[in-house]
Amino acid sequence: MTAPTPAPTPAQLAAIPAERLPALLQAMPKAELHLHIEGSLEPERIFALAQRNGVSLPYASVEALRAAYAFTDLQSFLDIYYAGASVLLTEQDFHDMAWDYLLKAQADHVVHVEMFFDPQTHTARGVPFEVVVRGLKSACDRAERELGVSAALIMCFLRHLSEDEALQTLDEALPFRELFIGVGLDSSERGHPPEKFARVFARCRDLGLHLVAHAGEEGPPAYIESALDVLRVERIDHGVRCLEDAALVARLAREGVPLTVCPLSNVKLCVFPDLAQHNLPALLAAGLKVTVNSDDPAYFGGYVNQNYLAIFAALPLGAAAAYTLARNSLEASFVSEARKAEWVEGLNRVFRGFAQASAS
Ligand code: ADE
Ligand code: ZN
Repeated sequence: MTAPTPAPTPAQLAAIPAERLPALLQAMPKAELHLHIEGSLEPERIFALAQRNGVSLPYASVEALRAAYAFTDLQSFLDIYYAGASVLLTEQDFHDMAWDYLLKAQADHVVHVEMFFDPQTHTARGVPFEVVVRGLKSACDRAERELGVSAALIMCFLRHLSEDEALQTLDEALPFRELFIGVGLDSSERGHPPEKFARVFARCRDLGLHLVAHAGEEGPPAYIESALDVLRVERIDHGVRCLEDAALVARLAREGVPLTVCPLSNVKLCVFPDLAQHNLPALLAAGLKVTVNSDDPAYFGGYVNQNYLAIFAALPLGAAAAYTLARNSLEASFVSEARKAEWVEGLNRVFRGFAQASAS
């Protein structure tokens, strides 16, 4: 047996020149941990599904729909996102949507994805939970078999709805408990603090589900704290506003809480005016376990590699940051330690390969 490839040394990372970064960012194996599958519906797919299912859309064309993607905040995006999801009716629709995404993930060297889905968006329109989850899961299983991409599902509760509705959704989901690995909390953040969902998250914890929540995207640092203390989540989705609270930053660093940061999303939803002013370098400098993700790639202008490429182009980040971000994504995933070690070794090989090519 050959010895595992060790991590690249600081000197090796420093030797990789800036012009090699785009190729490195593309080639490095990575996990995507913050991806709303309904947010991967491209306008072309929305129109094709609308036609297949006889659903009428309030937009005349693909171009007209795309032109509406000018958001001023989270809510202005969510209104269009929920309208787009209204074309999804059958198990095949959910499978096709997820498959489109998984093909793109493979092209981006995503080795593992933990995919959010919003069942309440669909059950409210009369689509059974079973149709949603079976369509998505069959695409995940197919990706493992045909693409070598590992994929798992995280069911999100919509925080603008009540906790009783979330509890009812959990009841509907329980017969399919084996088809998803965890639960999350998404949708309109302001005015809907994590503690609103204390009971449902406690039940999910008892069921052995993994727990995550959006917090500190538009909402205050206090929402990050209550997601940790009340919901007891294992990762924070976004979390970028944590920097407003030094004690919270120290805690996140000490406890190694992963943040699933989504740079292009943050700019599209006006959390930051542009990428050059994104706080990702400051989050890294504070020792936080930052990961890079695409959130809703069909709406925000790029899949995960485009997020990496754009943030590295806009900010002074080098190969060492690339290694940290990719490694964080693999380590923050909900897979076995053995699987993580295998992927980290693959990451080490890619970085050592780039370092060697740069030295010669
Ligand atoms: N649902 C889909 N994308 C979201 C985001 N960025 N924040 C909250 N809810 C979402
Ligand atoms: Zn999100």
